[in-house]
Amino acid sequence: MCSIIGYTGEDDAAPILVKGLRRMEYRGYDSVGVATESENQIELKKGVGKVEEVNTKFHLEKLPGKIGIGHTRWATHGKVTDLNAHPHPSNSGKIAIVHNGIIENFTELKQELEKEGYKFQSETDSEIIANLLQKHFQDSKDVKETMLKTTAELKGHYSFIAMFENGELAAARFHEPLIIGVGEKNYFLSSDVLGFIEQTDDAVYINNGNFVLINQAKLQIFDFDGNVIKPEITKVSKEFADVYKGDYAHFTLKEISEQSDTIFRAGESTKEALKEAVDYLRHSKNIYLTGSGTSYNASLVAKYLLAKYAKIKTESIISSELQFSPDLIEPNSILVAISQSGESADVLEAVNIAKKSNCKIISIINSLTSSLARESDIVIGMNCGPEIGVAATKSFTSQLIILYKIIQELNEEIKINFEEISSSISKILEEHNLIKKIASELKEISDIYVLGRGIHYPIAIESALKIKELTYIHAEGIAGGELKHGPLALMDTNVFVIIINPEDSTYQDTLTSAREIKARGAKIIGISDKNSDAYDFWVKIPKTDELTYPISETIPIQLLSYYAALEKETDPDYPRNLAKSVTVK
Ligand code: BG6
Repeated sequence: MCSIIGYTGEDDAAPILVKGLRRMEYRGYDSVGVATESENQIELKKGVGKVEEVNTKFHLEKLPGKIGIGHTRWATHGKVTDLNAHPHPSNSGKIAIVHNGIIENFTELKQELEKEGYKFQSETDSEIIANLLQKHFQDSKDVKETMLKTTAELKGHYSFIAMFENGELAAARFHEPLIIGVGEKNYFLSSDVLGFIEQTDDAVYINNGNFVLINQAKLQIFDFDGNVIKPEITKVSKEFADVYKGDYAHFTLKEISEQSDTIFRAGESTKEALKEAVDYLRHSKNIYLTGSGTSYNASLVAKYLLAKYAKIKTESIISSELQFSPDLIEPNSILVAISQSGESADVLEAVNIAKKSNCKIISIINSLTSSLARESDIVIGMNCGPEIGVAATKSFTSQLIILYKIIQELNEEIKINFEEISSSISKILEEHNLIKKIASELKEISDIYVLGRGIHYPIAIESALKIKELTYIHAEGIAGGELKHGPLALMDTNVFVIIINPEDSTYQDTLTSAREIKARGAKIIGISDKNSDAYDFWVKIPKTDELTYPISETIPIQLLSYYAALEKETDPDYPRNLAKSVTVK
């Protein structure tokens, strides 16, 4: 999905917009554009590439004026081209828009507008917003009226910002995030607090089905029926301002390296909520866990942990799949929704479905002001700080730590040594040179399999996801016992297999699998506290409690994926075709 931003105030808009787009680039990075207004003229520059490239090519920061809008794109409709980049001007050139989301009825609206003589330059669904606004503004000459008519016609999930040639800004939110930043003598509009957090930590979170008008430093909010909405200012925690790489080459490496500290903060700011959640889990008959991507994989670990250490049966459901089998959810049950961003559309959709069955929503989220937080009954905070690298790393281990804390509350016999986990992580991070060396072996490899049994199987799946996201190498997580029932056919001298094999109840069986694979000539990377002649490469992990191996065995594979990405010269922070949180279905 995309990032949208708007500014009106006393300073030059363009440098502020470009800075904000740089900080939100993880939301989408196919193309970039900025438009500003000065002396009732709109000037617009846009192009394919990342913020730095397009800014250097078109000098976006030099655009004149104290009012402007900006955009970074993650293509949904129309190829990655200059014309499909945002902002999109209306035919008159007197309105320009930036949009995030999907307009589901854009084909019909486009045909109606074309019948009225409107022309379209791009393949995007977004451009119709610009011409629809022009049509209604020409009729009413009133921006409020224009927004009421336009939002009444649009179908889909969207947030957009429109800039009128008179310098008025208008913006609307329907399911996609939109936040106002309130400065001393200026206003910001943004998809994410990161867009303006350096300038102000006063934010107004726009509710669903609301639109905003900002003109001459006057802010007004209305719902889609035209009723006035009173703005409520929320103080944003300054930790979200910390999006600097520091001395690290990439955010991904920084975020992997932060984990020996971030694990201590998981759940700490919402202790009461965690206790309340435990109470519900203890007394509920039906408990469902859901998430997307890495967060879904955390729900698979949760399922194992709750069954084994708390005797609680749960069902893990891929968020995007729930809409096709909503009856899976028993009414009046518990849905635990796991999401780093709290903005993934599939997770929000799953929550919506569960709420229709009167389910209680317990969420584990990093962004406590996200849409999911506002849809939930109980919110447990990961507290791991902003995660910029598109591939989730520290958020995954923070999710696992919160699950451990829930288990500890549910089963008094369980005492988890978080100090020990943190020092295990530090020890493994010290092994980065060895892991870097192993990663150099993967440069020409096209298939990697990750094998684990029991609680290590979900980690095998998560590890395969990290390899895919960061290196673009085909990778698959395999349940150890399934090897003989198919995957063994894929084993030959061209593949690498990562064996997750700490010395616990799964050790012997998994070692046997390693020998069966080695017999077919595949190269083996052993992740274990014990070496074996079955391994071509061994990454030692500290011996810990069986319960906490999932954390220490994840770190070496995050590092391996990162260094293999450098070998393959991919961009670890902004992998092609991906985005940090996908707010469109
Ligand atoms: C993807 C991210 O877009 O969304 C993944 O690239 C992430 O890293 C997944 O795991 C789910 O995101 P979230 O924010 O709902 O946990």
